[in-house]
Amino acid sequence: MNASDSILDVRKLKQYFHVNKNLTMKAVDDVSFQIKKGEIFGLVGETGSGKSTIARTIMGIYPAVEGEIYFKGEMISNQRIFRQNKKKVRRNMQTIFQDSAAALNPRMTIEQIIAEPLRIHRLASGKKELQEKIDRLLLEVGLDSSLKSKYPGEISGGQRQRVAIARCIGMDPDLIIADEPIASLDISIQAQIVTLFQDLQRKYGFTFLFYRA
Ligand SMILES: Nc1ncnc2c1ncn2[C@@H]1O[C@H](COP(=O)(O)OP(=O)(O)O)[C@@H](O)[C@H]1O
Ligand SMILES: [Mg+2]
Repeated sequence: MNASDSILDVRKLKQYFHVNKNLTMKAVDDVSFQIKKGEIFGLVGETGSGKSTIARTIMGIYPAVEGEIYFKGEMISNQRIFRQNKKKVRRNMQTIFQDSAAALNPRMTIEQIIAEPLRIHRLASGKKELQEKIDRLLLEVGLDSSLKSKYPGEISGGQRQRVAIARCIGMDPDLIIADEPIASLDISIQAQIVTLFQDLQRKYGFTFLFYRA
């Protein structure tokens, strides 16, 4: 495999939590995997097996105890390097969580939620372009633009997850970490959201790290 095809390369990652002086919790112990550009990489593990810890370590929330993480060929597990690249990495790596209700600000409208990161990262120039972008993102995730003025509490769980996905793909990230994104949805809705991820991958070549219990 060509090194440039690799989006994420996790090598012998270890993550321990020191619960107290006698107890060390080995949340992640010697995990290695590699994700290629444009693939949906599924990581299956029961609750407590360390999936979210791996995600947080990739995102640089915890420094790795041991092992290395390479993002687009660049080492990001070293804290000094990570701090230097923080803004770039944060923008290019986006996350979707199980509980989208908690991840979306309840006091912001759907429109404001999708617009916020686009504004912060200046991904739209002017009001008109921003509006067009929001409308297009809603369409991509299968939501009617009439939902724009609604608040997260006024729409269904599946719709909220679609909003989270719209917000995420608006950043055009190189990697999307979806941490059990369908776990809290009804079975029938789960299939729809999986299909949406597959459509987005096929259409735009998005790369996913997809967790399932
Ligand atoms: N900040 C932390 N401090 C101590 N233990 C933790 C911390 N975060 C996670 N753990 C423990 O690490 C293990 C893995 O948790 P987690 O990564 O959340 O698993 P998963 O996402 O697969 O359910 C669990 O036993 C959890 O209790
Ligand atoms: Mg988890």
